[in-house]
Amino acid sequence: MADKLSNPRGTADILPNETPAWRFLEKTACELFRVYGYREIRTPIFEEVSLFKRSLGETTEVVNKQLLEVRSQRADAEDASFALRPEGTAPVVRVYNQNGLERAEGLSKLFYIGPMFRGERPQKGRLRQFHQIGAEAIGYQGDNPLLDVEMIALASRLLTAFGVNGFKLKVNSLGTAEDKAGFAQWLRAELKGKIGHLSEECKNQYERNVFRLLDSKDKDCQEVIRSLNIGTAHLSERGLKYFEAVKKGLDQLGIAYEVSNQLVRGLDYYTHTVFEISYEGLGAQDALGAGGRYNCLIEQLGGGDKRMDQPVAAIGFAFGIERILLALKDQGKLSDVKPSIDAYLVSFDRGFEDNAFQLVNTLRQEGISADMDFGGRAAKQQFTQADKRGAKFVLILGEEEVKNGAVSVKDMVTGNQVTVPLNNVVKQLKLMIEKGSI
Ligand code: HAM
Repeated sequence: MADKLSNPRGTADILPNETPAWRFLEKTACELFRVYGYREIRTPIFEEVSLFKRSLGETTEVVNKQLLEVRSQRADAEDASFALRPEGTAPVVRVYNQNGLERAEGLSKLFYIGPMFRGERPQKGRLRQFHQIGAEAIGYQGDNPLLDVEMIALASRLLTAFGVNGFKLKVNSLGTAEDKAGFAQWLRAELKGKIGHLSEECKNQYERNVFRLLDSKDKDCQEVIRSLNIGTAHLSERGLKYFEAVKKGLDQLGIAYEVSNQLVRGLDYYTHTVFEISYEGLGAQDALGAGGRYNCLIEQLGGGDKRMDQPVAAIGFAFGIERILLALKDQGKLSDVKPSIDAYLVSFDRGFEDNAFQLVNTLRQEGISADMDFGGRAAKQQFTQADKRGAKFVLILGEEEVKNGAVSVKDMVTGNQVTVPLNNVVKQLKLMIEKGSI
């Protein structure tokens, strides 16, 4: 026998008993995005590599180690190199700039749901293909702390609507672009004499992207970082004022948060507010979602209009769907969804197959979910099949029924059975479905 093939490591098949939970999350998200005035955007699954290098940062893990590059085997393929998108923000900004959305809308409020790809080492909650639900607000009106508050409130409301409890919100501010550069410089100076005994990886991060040390998992590194007592000293007056306004807004909405001065995030484009929502029960990969402000990214990717007296500013977040599902599972809120159809046709004779097929089609045309056996199996096996398919009612075609132009309907829960003329079966069955029994 030929070998069975498996899905690639770090990907997951979403089986039919799992898809209802996915649909629920997607539907709930779409509805809440509508309430907050966000509209859906869909971008390609792959983009030019340079988009991610210019936005996420050449020294970030995501670009440096995790980009999954796509190559065409065609000899005449274009020269540009492509990568599967590791996240949604950079592609959305590309679309925003390319289509001149800043001219069309004061503030573009966009959301997306879809797969993202990162060549990470797979573990619980960490996949190579995962899915995000994300939102981005971009525009000349985008530079307002109230928008940061709206974004965080929306993220938090989404989790509540999904049914996730006990999540923790951490917020921090990196300040303006200048504040952030100063912060990096300060960190470098503070750490200079202290990194000698740290791991090679940490020394490397010190050289390449010093912020990475702040969320290092290395115990010695964590101790060194803790000893720095990082506060808000890196924030300028403007940076501090902005952060205070965000916190005030969160307080006014009654959103619980913790300020974490070590929170910097792993992508380069952030300035001012950054936030992360975690759930303890997930273990090492405990971030359900995260986001922040990225005021410089639009211009960095060639957008904005120099003639305007304000730059285009933006903020957004993204949740990992798989992690939300893990959290719901941890809270016992995910049950396997069993298949269910309204009616299953059982024929007592293969000669009635045509009659059964016609009846099934009539029912389907009336919106009744119906199915039948296509394998010519014995009636007993057809009943077993009806049970497996979660049929509420079984419609029986026996010799008597066919002779009389009728069908017998059996309630699979109570076992009650009635015979109904064929020309009345749709009406009768609809009443039974509505009632839930015969
Ligand atoms: P991120 O923190 O890289 O941010 O990813 C957001 C969320 O995606 C994470 O909190 C996690 O739930 C999920 N996630 C990331 N990587 C994986 C993985 N390998 N396996 C499973 N889930 C994963 C961003 O992507 C930013 N674009 C968020 C953002 C939007 N910032 C501003 N706007």
